Amino acid sequence: MMDLLTMNQLSNEEILTILEDAGAYKDGRGWTSNSMLFVTNLFFEPSTRTRFSFEVAEKKLGLHVLNFSAEHSSVQKGETLYDTVKTLESIGANAVVIRHEQDRYFEELEGKVGIPIINAGDGCGNHPTQSLLDLLTIKEEFGYFKGLTVSIHGDIRHSRVARSNAEVLSRLGARVLFAGPDEWQDASNPYGEYAPVDEAITSSDVVMLLRIQHERHHDQSNSVQNYLQQFGLTKQRESMMKQHAIIMHPAPVNRDVEIASELIECDRSRIFKQMENGVYVRMAVLKRALQKNEQKLEEKNHV
Ligand code: CP
Repeated sequence: MMDLLTMNQLSNEEILTILEDAGAYKDGRGWTSNSMLFVTNLFFEPSTRTRFSFEVAEKKLGLHVLNFSAEHSSVQKGETLYDTVKTLESIGANAVVIRHEQDRYFEELEGKVGIPIINAGDGCGNHPTQSLLDLLTIKEEFGYFKGLTVSIHGDIRHSRVARSNAEVLSRLGARVLFAGPDEWQDASNPYGEYAPVDEAITSSDVVMLLRIQHERHHDQSNSVQNYLQQFGLTKQRESMMKQHAIIMHPAPVNRDVEIASELIECDRSRIFKQMENGVYVRMAVLKRALQKNEQKLEEKNHV
């Protein structure tokens, strides 16, 4: 499949190939385009990391980037997502990268669009390229996934990162723990066991913190008091981590809420490395999508 919409579309083998390709890009090797290929980035939700790392990835691959602003497009005149994507396909885009606030927005496009769709985040649903960059960061650190304990902390219910990562990490043989406020537990996510925060911190090889997703809370009064002390990574909890354990966070970070500010760039933190890895993973994902699309077109022409 040329699209990348959810992590569970990728086999373990395909995931490892993407991570290998990302590693090659990091070493300055790998496919780049010498044709006139256009990619468009449709962001309907705010983003800094995903949006700009896709743009850097596209430019490093030699692709032509069509940036889009919902505010300055015909979305303002009521154009649907389907019509926007079909328009871009008609005028020559070779792939689309989409971030949207609606869970599974891509279902209205599947099977109806002839160019690859790469999901850059759908509501509370999925964030496959974040998951891949997290996997690359963990693989660079440990070299493997099987047998690792990864604890995911915080707003599990509203997090597309928790959903994508828990499924794939458990599939790759890691043990996944969840920790956080009871009201943000997610009964629909069967890929981790809930544990008290201190127990999760002390038993983990990877402590993965999540941003509190205020924009997805229907009840704004439902905020947790004194979150850092109750559930966040304080200096005291960091001192309880295994010696080799690392800290991850998809960012943006709420400083002194999910994590004490002084830990964001500490020796254990891989938060900025995750962002750096995002560029290489997105290069590998774009390469996969464009090459699969080219294969599909060649097969069609030979029929
Ligand atoms: N981690 C992440 O998706 O960040 P942005 O929202 O800034 O893209």
